[in-house]
Amino acid sequence: MIAAMDINVQKVSTSKLNTMSLENLPFGKYYTDHMLEADYEDGEWKNIEIKPYQPLLLEPSTAAIHYGQAIFEGIKAYKDPAGNAFIFRPHDNYKRFNLSAERMQMPAVPEDIFMEGMRMLVDIDKNWIPSQEDHSLYIRPFMFSTDPVIGVKPSEKYKFMIILSPTGPYYNKPMRIYVEEKYTRAAPGGIGYAKAAGNYGASMLATTEAKNKGYDQVLWTDAFEHKYVQEIGTMNVFFIIGDKAYTPELTLGTILGGVTRDSSITILREMGFEVIDTERVHIDNLIEAHKAGALFEVFGTGTAATITLIQELRYKDYVMEFDTNKWRIAPELKKRLNDIRYGKTADNHGWMYKI
Ligand code: COI
Repeated sequence: MIAAMDINVQKVSTSKLNTMSLENLPFGKYYTDHMLEADYEDGEWKNIEIKPYQPLLLEPSTAAIHYGQAIFEGIKAYKDPAGNAFIFRPHDNYKRFNLSAERMQMPAVPEDIFMEGMRMLVDIDKNWIPSQEDHSLYIRPFMFSTDPVIGVKPSEKYKFMIILSPTGPYYNKPMRIYVEEKYTRAAPGGIGYAKAAGNYGASMLATTEAKNKGYDQVLWTDAFEHKYVQEIGTMNVFFIIGDKAYTPELTLGTILGGVTRDSSITILREMGFEVIDTERVHIDNLIEAHKAGALFEVFGTGTAATITLIQELRYKDYVMEFDTNKWRIAPELKKRLNDIRYGKTADNHGWMYKI
């Protein structure tokens, strides 16, 4: 068990917070005063430290840079109206982190290092939690291999770190999405369900091409037929068709099991929707529903993205456009989720972890 005293704490003498405002922040550009760092060596985790945010000194041969044994998580901390700090569902991200670690042949991070380290770090930097609407403290735990060895094999040494970023919305307007049918994000047996750094590196060419066509992001489709939709570059996807909500199923291992996806399924059910989350979603069914006037809303869910409305979905030459100002469901879902996160309503699910 890691107790607070096993984590060495070295604090800054002057906070950077004195020189900046926590309003109207971009996503992921500023970092708090402190970070957590721990090393895995000789089969155990050691040197667990919270210290001033600073650059890393690494060997050019550091394995992760060459072969991509690198994973991460995205979590958010909020303040309630009384100023108490909470983290949203961190245990769920912890579980997913070690699922990613296992897939990438990296050591598991013990729960007490991950959870107690995060709790202490957020507590030390809690004055950095913004209170403005759609703002939060983004928590980025990550791990990468550090052997200074360029043979291809699982590393023997790793670094686990947590950094914190006071942050505004990832997307601040409804998005235009291009349904991708040339490139592939994930196939069964691959690493689609893992939050592995390489999944994001591999997505950038498709995203750039979509941007060149005037779109913000891609909606990935399956590797074989490019017909079954998977997820959007930075978030899971939901469709409201008639009186049902659909989100692609996870069992093929090609889609990230989002914590916000799971929370959205729960809240949509509370709102009275039948949520279908155990089936694949075929693009032709979406087009058919759109032609019949039954595809009412399309939105993304993610830690960074929260609930993001989709105003346009394009598949080949077929364009589905939506007037998001008329929508009721995704905005209501977002409000209910935010009310829980910002402590404006009761947390009946035990989602908020008090610092
Ligand atoms: C998140 O939603 O936390 C993510 O990690 C998505 C993206 C920023 C990479």
